[in-house]
Amino acid sequence: MAEKYLVTSALPYANGPIHIGHLAGAYLPADIYVRFLKMNGDDVVYISGTDEHGVPITITAEKNGITPQQVVDTNHDIIKNAFAGMGINFDNFSATSREIHHETAQEFFKELHESGAFRVKEETGFYSPSLEMFLPDRYIEGTCPKCGKDGARGDQCEACGTMLTPEELVNPISKINGEKPILKPTKHFYFKLGDFQERLEAFIASHPEWKDNVKNYCKSWFKEGLRDRAITRDLKWGIKLPYNEEEFISKVMYVWFEAPIGYISSTKEWAKSIGEPEKWKEYWQNDEAKLIHFIGKDNIVFHSLVFPATIMAMNENRTTDKYNMVTDIPANEFLNIENDKISTSRDWAVWVHEYLKDYPADLLRYYLTIISPENSDSDFTWEGFQKHANGELADIIGNYVNRLLTFTVKNFDGQIPEPKEFTEDDLEAFENVKIFFEDNFYPNLTKRRGRRVLIDYLDLFRTLNKYFNDMAPWKAIKTDKERCGTVLYCGIKLLKQMSVMMFPYMPESASKIWELIGEKTEISDERWDTFLSNDPVPGTALTKPKGILFAKIEDDVIEAEKAKLVKIEEAEITDFEYPKEKEAVEFDDFMKLDIRSGTIIEVEPVKKSKKLYKMKVDIGYETRTVMGGLKKAYTAEELLGKNVTVLVNLKPRMIMGVESQGMLLAASDDNNLSLLDPGTFVGNGRTIG
Ligand code: 2FM
Ligand code: ZN
Repeated sequence: MAEKYLVTSALPYANGPIHIGHLAGAYLPADIYVRFLKMNGDDVVYISGTDEHGVPITITAEKNGITPQQVVDTNHDIIKNAFAGMGINFDNFSATSREIHHETAQEFFKELHESGAFRVKEETGFYSPSLEMFLPDRYIEGTCPKCGKDGARGDQCEACGTMLTPEELVNPISKINGEKPILKPTKHFYFKLGDFQERLEAFIASHPEWKDNVKNYCKSWFKEGLRDRAITRDLKWGIKLPYNEEEFISKVMYVWFEAPIGYISSTKEWAKSIGEPEKWKEYWQNDEAKLIHFIGKDNIVFHSLVFPATIMAMNENRTTDKYNMVTDIPANEFLNIENDKISTSRDWAVWVHEYLKDYPADLLRYYLTIISPENSDSDFTWEGFQKHANGELADIIGNYVNRLLTFTVKNFDGQIPEPKEFTEDDLEAFENVKIFFEDNFYPNLTKRRGRRVLIDYLDLFRTLNKYFNDMAPWKAIKTDKERCGTVLYCGIKLLKQMSVMMFPYMPESASKIWELIGEKTEISDERWDTFLSNDPVPGTALTKPKGILFAKIEDDVIEAEKAKLVKIEEAEITDFEYPKEKEAVEFDDFMKLDIRSGTIIEVEPVKKSKKLYKMKVDIGYETRTVMGGLKKAYTAEELLGKNVTVLVNLKPRMIMGVESQGMLLAASDDNNLSLLDPGTFVGNGRTIG
């Protein structure tokens, strides 16, 4: 019988694009599972959306001089497109700044407050007079009262490890702008999480089948004892409380209180979009429906304890329309890159939207599944990516498809041959696929163990190649055309079955194969209970493979990708002291600068200088001599031929006896310097501004 599922993937923060760690953690395994369920005939709604509130977004907006809404809108689009490009097939991808979510979260807040789930507590907090906001703990720093080191954060001193509150810091300052914050009284709502400990313990104990990482995190939280949690913040950007009293008007809900409610809002939005606005209830307020949260391990506590307790509190006062408790939380461990933790601040990441400019989605879907951090952290390497893409997808799967179809098209009029009697070998090959499906693919994917299945799937493809080689149709064609046709028919039948099982993992490639073997239906309409007997029809026209299914990745491409990952030490970022901003200039003054693209065509180190090069720079309509202090950052060879950005109307200056006729623009700090590339190069002498 068709079962109902509501599947969610963590709502990604709209404070930047998504990287492959996100994909491997909460999105790709969910998408594979959802595709699997849909092909099981189950009734599944797959939900996500961007998490658009929180202090980091306000800070990004401040830094860039734009509104928080602009920040999240831009990132929402980038993220949504990246998911679409990767074939992550949400039924709805919403955003928490939308009205539907504000309304839903406010309803929750109100109902919970009225039922006594919250208490209001008076406290003092650090407030930034210039930004007119209270500063969260980690945006305050000062001298550690314990060890006396500077740079201790409001929540912890990293030097000695002491947990701190911002009030304990000596000489606290704001990390955002260096200003001295003031202490101000404020009131906050606390969710009485502590009251739910026993019920949560019983709930977790009722799910012995959950993953160990989830159960262990819960255990350690229980051991510490659950404490009440502040669920409001004094900030401007966020969801307002549903109260108009003066004291609550400048408060918003804490993101981690409202974000999970976003799963519900997103389902409501989906229901509206299909013209059945009440339908969301079938998935959220129905004992028959299962609720599955795919997340990364850093989100465990919120999905296994805080959000379930919120749901318990809601249900406590309801007699009908009770919300479902979560059925399972398949939390993945972390993905590293080239043996180092992914870090967005250090740019140690592979960004999905950038990946997609150069490679097909399926290669990454395949490799990330093969190395999926299902049970322990795993490591993405570009060489691993290349090895699996070339050695497995291209050499094993692509090769089988190509040999089989090219040969059949050529020798059997481009059609699927009519089979005669099957031999033992043929039957054994059919049986292998059937056994794999029944004993491995179906039961493991039901349990969301996608990684093992894919590894074994590849092995099964190896045996198909062997079958094909052993049957040697290229020999049979000369002696026994009928037998040859039977072998090719078998090869196509097996390929058809394999492509259906490929679909949840690599939907694009599976659909391509489907087309090549002349299928006119949608591969996603195949069902697990029938696909093995859904045989190809002899006489069906095949499409001759155009190009290859999986192109190989060359060594130099991999080298270039590795070179793009540059290690920046964390310390360089956190210890960096931002130079004071210069005085504001008029727009007209800025417009006086004439900045243009150019190319360095000659480089000569200035002998008596540690820093300077004398360079000739082609700026299209003429060549300029420019002196630049670049020795620390570049060798002469590196500079030669480099595209640069030149301030061309700077009045000539004499530098070490040479007239410098312009200036090259660069980004720099005390230790680093990097010349600004004028972007996709359009030619020299073009204006920049
Ligand atoms: O860790 C994160 O990216 C969070 N934005 C996940 C939120 S999941 C949900 F609860 F909304
Ligand atoms: Zn300290």
